[in-house]
Amino acid sequence: MSGSAPVLSLRGLCLTIGTHRILHDCTLDLAEGETVVILGPSGSGKSTLMRCLNLLLRADSGQILFRGRDLMARHVSATEVRRMIGMVFQDYCLFEHLDVRANLLLAPRTAGAGFLADADVRAMNLLAAVGLADKADRYPHELSGGQQQRVAIARALVMQPELMLFDEPTSALDPESIEALQALFRSDALVGMTKIIVTHDIAFASKVADRIVFMEGGEIVAEAAAGQAFSVDASPRLRRFLTHAMPHAGAFSSSTDL
Ligand SMILES: Nc1ncnc2c1ncn2[C@@H]1O[C@H](COP(=O)(O)OP(=O)(O)OP(=O)(O)O)[C@@H](O)[C@H]1O
Ligand SMILES: [Mg+2]
Repeated sequence: MSGSAPVLSLRGLCLTIGTHRILHDCTLDLAEGETVVILGPSGSGKSTLMRCLNLLLRADSGQILFRGRDLMARHVSATEVRRMIGMVFQDYCLFEHLDVRANLLLAPRTAGAGFLADADVRAMNLLAAVGLADKADRYPHELSGGQQQRVAIARALVMQPELMLFDEPTSALDPESIEALQALFRSDALVGMTKIIVTHDIAFASKVADRIVFMEGGEIVAEAAAGQAFSVDASPRLRRFLTHAMPHAGAFSSSTDL
């Protein structure tokens, strides 16, 4: 990670629901412009961690420092946090009764004048960036899953968040749409933006990640630069997980091959 102050620092984040310990002592730093991919078995707490970052869930203890400011402090409003930290959900969550353009403009309209200036131009530029310039007046049910996913991404980007969270962005997509999404992640719209991506799609992870974080049982148990995570130098637990997730990928390369 670069020497500059992290955009996001999680410090000892814990969450228990009932008697179930869901997050335990999660600590993580995210550098400006970095893409961190979170991998881990089902139920390991990945979505819960993302929901805590966006204040959809309140962690019990720990700190979420965003540019040094603790988002867990009582006076910090969730609305304000969600303007800085955008989230794209697995099932898109588009408003079915609004066309694509109106879906993109809803948040700027409710956020007030400062966000509305140029919002229409921004929205149309983003639709062009995700390859959907001709779909502005379509309704979500008229679009494929991949197109809806790209609308959801454009809708989050229109608020110009400083950090984007993606929860399983490829899970509902066919291979062609996944390829289109990969291209989008490599495009000007998303390159250089700080982001966290949760995925079970290891091939996708290997193409977009700067760093891999591995969760298990609510804990962050391994962390590595992408080149190392997919090499023989990865931690034994991460290698076991990746080998299981990619049974046909063969042996790991040495890090110098990457
Ligand atoms: N509201 C809740 N009440 C009780 N338990 C919950 C709640 N939300 C999540 N959990 C539990 O917390 C654990 C972590 O769930 P989470 O959805 O974060 O896992 P995940 O890593 O995202 O899994 P997947 O890969 O299947 O999406 C699971 O055991 C889940 O059952
Ligand atoms: Mg999940």
